[in-house]
Amino acid sequence: MSTKPVTAPTPMNDGESTNTSLNAHIDDIIAVRLSRRGVLKGGIAATTTALFGSLGLSACGGSSSTSGDSTLSLGFEAVAKNKNDVVTIPAGYEVSILHALGDPLTATDADWANNGSETADSYNRRIGDGHDGMHYFGLSDAGAYQADRSDRGLLCVNHEYVVGPFALHPSGRTAGASRTASEVDKEINAHGVSVCEIRRGSSGNAMTVVRSSTYNRRITSATPMNFGGAARASSLLKTKYSADGTATRGTNNNCANGYTPWGTYLTCEENFTNVISRATGDNASRSAKEITGLNRYGMTQGRKSPYFWETAGTDDLYVRWSASVTGATAADDYRNVFNTFGWVVEIDPFNPTSNPVKHTALGRFAHEGCWPCNAVAGKPVVFYMGDDSRNEYIYKFVSKALWDTADVGKGMTAGAKYMDEGTLYVARFNADGTGNWIELTYGKNGLDASNATYAFADQADVLVHARLAGDSVSATKMDRPEWGAVNPVNGEVYMTLTNNSNRVAPTATPSGSQLKPDTANPRYYEDLKSGTTSQKGNPNGHIIRWREAGNDPAATTFAWDIYLFGAEAAAAADVNLSALTDINDFSSPDGLWFDRNGMLWIQTDDGAYTDVTNCMMLAAIPGKVGDGTAAVAAGGTATIKGANATSATLRRFLVGPKDCEITGIAMTPDRKTMFVNVQHPGEDGSLAAPTSAWPSSQTDASSTRRPRSATIVITRTNGGEIAV
Ligand code: FEO
Ligand code: CA
Ligand code: CA
Repeated sequence: MSTKPVTAPTPMNDGESTNTSLNAHIDDIIAVRLSRRGVLKGGIAATTTALFGSLGLSACGGSSSTSGDSTLSLGFEAVAKNKNDVVTIPAGYEVSILHALGDPLTATDADWANNGSETADSYNRRIGDGHDGMHYFGLSDAGAYQADRSDRGLLCVNHEYVVGPFALHPSGRTAGASRTASEVDKEINAHGVSVCEIRRGSSGNAMTVVRSSTYNRRITSATPMNFGGAARASSLLKTKYSADGTATRGTNNNCANGYTPWGTYLTCEENFTNVISRATGDNASRSAKEITGLNRYGMTQGRKSPYFWETAGTDDLYVRWSASVTGATAADDYRNVFNTFGWVVEIDPFNPTSNPVKHTALGRFAHEGCWPCNAVAGKPVVFYMGDDSRNEYIYKFVSKALWDTADVGKGMTAGAKYMDEGTLYVARFNADGTGNWIELTYGKNGLDASNATYAFADQADVLVHARLAGDSVSATKMDRPEWGAVNPVNGEVYMTLTNNSNRVAPTATPSGSQLKPDTANPRYYEDLKSGTTSQKGNPNGHIIRWREAGNDPAATTFAWDIYLFGAEAAAAADVNLSALTDINDFSSPDGLWFDRNGMLWIQTDDGAYTDVTNCMMLAAIPGKVGDGTAAVAAGGTATIKGANATSATLRRFLVGPKDCEITGIAMTPDRKTMFVNVQHPGEDGSLAAPTSAWPSSQTDASSTRRPRSATIVITRTNGGEIAV
């Protein structure tokens, strides 16, 4: 998602803050447990021993020295920062375009025409807009999931939103609060997910789309889907479309993603607040409890979607985007449509006729993504999730069913088994480097009708209003959790905290949604830009990581540190806490992914370092929780950092084209074909005055074609594995 602020008609509200809860902030705890003065008095080494000595880290499961494969090394020349309108990759690598906005998935639809003439209906068979999270699934000759197959697969790609300057339409997008049905239909169909078969050719490791494949599919904001889990059939999900609350239409604002051990795709609904409007005065038709729930998720009365889809006509397909009370009961209108978004959605790419399922047991919030633990037979399957808004929380879900490898390939049946029954937890990061997972189950931890924050009626109410449940159990407010990733070698979990312009000095008195720094979100500073574009707070972001007690993903305690701080290489040492240099400095980490060897890939969605470089992707060989030291961050707050980055452990692998975000990554199992998504190239321009012609500019510097989001394919010229 773009880093641009919310201004109609461009729908962008990454990082919106609606958490005004009064639960204790971690700085209140830190003052007691780890004051800056204590760090300075005791010395950094002494404090580190105090922090980690008590955690028994050496007693954690797995090798005490492992960070992954000890033979891993970064075998490429770092790419220099630049502002060119191409994807820049290391010497010895090749890049091609797999698919871009509007490319046809059939053999019969025409190629994209570069003039917005494609019909709305054809977007049911064309690649959508705003490429984001994705996953590669090997496809067997028999049409089943084959985890180790590299020459033929199904690539699932999220299409997060309709990107400015709106290459989708003939002349950009109609501005204002009255939209045409043809534009709206096209936008609804350009959202969602694409599934397409891809194959290698007769030589080399590059892959192309099989246009006629029966597996090719579009899931859009109009596709029928079902609910699973405790909120299914709840009164909170009843609509005119589904009077019993068991079904809905469409998935939206599909940001990051996940996958399951049984071979299905997970797509996650992030900025869904953007597509829904609510009438001024609607509060008069709502209970006080309903208003609390709507406001906590940002759906205040009178809020208008910058898409204005609800204005395109009186047909149910348009009316459904207004969450206003207009009928006698919830079965007569779409007052509950807002509750039908904000979920983790499972898709079986191997069964093109299967309905996707929204798994309510994983809670409702601005889901960035959903990442599984390293599944072990006989143990629960655990999924890690972040809520990407300022001040929001990190969650995990622990399945009730125990993992049985015989369920591989069982599609949505397995999904119901593992994802509809289980326990949702929210994270609390303590100032001493420990953490707790707090259970969000009705009847426990005060989550019942007597709750002072919100009178929870049942488990469905807890799940639909997971943010309110997190508030009432004092979960830790984080700096915009983006992607997570689980180290395949040692099980440690990493999560990006992309940035926070709203953090204030430790000595300040916060107002509204402002936050003072804390040990887990420790920095307050001003970035290096001068003039009106400079940003204060934590403009460059960081990456936190944790190790579950006993290396058990279902554990209720953990140990954490901050793996890496984003910074400009020239920044002061207490800003550039990870000692980044020209070959690996970056800002605003967002995408995050481990390949099967344990190499970590970091992608950026930045607005702070873009005066110097376009967004980028780096490769890393991570250490492990506890391999660093205590430190004092800019602004004076104590923190716990991982080992410094070096040229051997962190290098820039890729720089994207102008005005883009790099987000979404996948790789074939043999590590020889990599897929990366480039979202919103040229977003700072317009159709009349473009700033980018990518992807055409990749091979034609004089191209004037429209910029489009796209998936790129990266291979090594010598046919070898990537990055080693
Ligand atoms: Fe869609 Fe949180 O980025
Ligand atoms: Ca993201
Ligand atoms: Ca982002």
